[in-house]
Amino acid sequence: MTSPISIAIDGPVASGKSAVGRRLAERLGVRFLDTGMMYRAATLAAIRAGVDIRDEDAIARLVSSLEITVVWGDAGDRLLVDGRDITDELRSPLVDGSVSEVSAVPAVRSVMVQQQRAIAREASIVMVGRDIGTVVLPEAKAKIFLTASAEVRAQRRHRELEERGQPADRDEVMAALSHRDKIDAGRDDSPLKPDDDATTIETDRLGIGEVVEIIVSKVESG
Ligand code: DC
Repeated sequence: MTSPISIAIDGPVASGKSAVGRRLAERLGVRFLDTGMMYRAATLAAIRAGVDIRDEDAIARLVSSLEITVVWGDAGDRLLVDGRDITDELRSPLVDGSVSEVSAVPAVRSVMVQQQRAIAREASIVMVGRDIGTVVLPEAKAKIFLTASAEVRAQRRHRELEERGQPADRDEVMAALSHRDKIDAGRDDSPLKPDDDATTIETDRLGIGEVVEIIVSKVESG
């Protein structure tokens, strides 16, 4: 049996990671994991348990007690926490507001990184997040860092919220995005940044299909 291959895609909020990663995984016939959903699951659990988001020890204790399971399905992957499917609740504004703080806690990251590495050992995968190329899968077959200007990312996020029936003010969307970027890129533990051997793709003027093709040729040539 050949060993599984991994493709790492990182980038800031609304850089197109999930859309590109999902399409790429379909194209290559491998699994797809959006690791942001795992940090979101931890955040939702903390909110539900009434844990103070600034209390790092309490957050760490809670997260190490959670059982987070990914169910790989044809109709899209689902995330279970302690056996309960919470996938549809992970993109709520409440979770958006606290997820960067929760994911900056080193003990939370170490639990997630271990799980993500175990998942990558099971089968070939496209994994997206903030630290996949730098920390989670340093041996990935291809490391991609997606970027886009703040304006384009805010536009994409605004459209996504509208499509989800959560209309939002454009300036507020931009402010929330910069706030999260600042925490994700400024934290001490595995900050958002391209790895030294990552390929950076600027996606302002590229469609999802075009970005996927650039990555496919990179994977095939490497
Ligand atoms: O990609 P997203 O917006 O769903 O991610 C939610 C948060 O999780 C984001 O603010 C940063 C964090 N995150 C992380 O720190 N490391 C990852 N590998 C994925 C997400």
